[in-house]
Amino acid sequence: MRIVTLASLRGAPGVTTTALLLASTLNEAVVVEADLDGGVLAIRYGLGREPGLATLAASGPDVGEGWRAHAQEAGGVPVLVGPDAPTSSAALWRSAGEQITQRIVTGAGTAVVDAGRLRTPGPVVAASDLLLLLVCPVAEQLVALTHVLASLRQSVRGEVAVILVGEGPYRISEVERSIGVPVFAALPQDRDSAESLRTGAGVNTRLARSRLARAVTALGACVNAALVEPVEADVS
Ligand SMILES: Nc1ncnc2c1ncn2[C@@H]1O[C@H](COP(=O)(O)OP(=O)(O)O)[C@@H](O)[C@H]1O
Ligand SMILES: [Mg+2]
Repeated sequence: MRIVTLASLRGAPGVTTTALLLASTLNEAVVVEADLDGGVLAIRYGLGREPGLATLAASGPDVGEGWRAHAQEAGGVPVLVGPDAPTSSAALWRSAGEQITQRIVTGAGTAVVDAGRLRTPGPVVAASDLLLLLVCPVAEQLVALTHVLASLRQSVRGEVAVILVGEGPYRISEVERSIGVPVFAALPQDRDSAESLRTGAGVNTRLARSRLARAVTALGACVNAALVEPVEADVS
């Protein structure tokens, strides 16, 4: 699969919400819940704890769409749910992170990985074709970004870019120029739409016409373009 990973550095800027909406705009996409703070999708959408990442990890090698047997549906989007307890999530990735990553890499389609708040990048983050960091355009979050950017660029296979969420004093062009990182999208603060998705509205309802969903659709086009024609790293 192509792997697009979404993560935050601080706070809760909407990684899980954006991951679901983004997956709904991409072909053959599945959300992979790789949040080491513990998953929320099973609880949010009233799903079982299995199947999910734990059953995928225990399955045989897969080429193709075998991952579908481990997916459930959240808001109309296929998801591979992760354990909801932080200790179980950390234990699963510690013991089976390589197997899970292998299954995802060899599967067909696009994996939208919800990595939650990023720590040391694990195998699935390292294998990403694209890592998108959600940050609010405020000084403390942008400074946090500058602290991790260089090491993330070294450890991630593909490109590292940013999604700005909400209002702040810094514009896309300023962030790109001063931090030297591409900004793939600026998403609006749209609490009503985000909350309706969180509380059970599917992605194919009125939500699809919301400002947030339209901004994520534009992001999806940008993601597709980047995955087809990866931007060359600047080696000068
Ligand atoms: N773009 C947005 N605008 C306003 N509220 C949002 C947005 N994205 C998410 N939220 C809200 O913020 C809270 C956290 O969202 P969530 O997606 O779980 O964040 P994270 O995965 O970063 O912790 C939820 O109440 C959600 O409805
Ligand atoms: Mg989350």
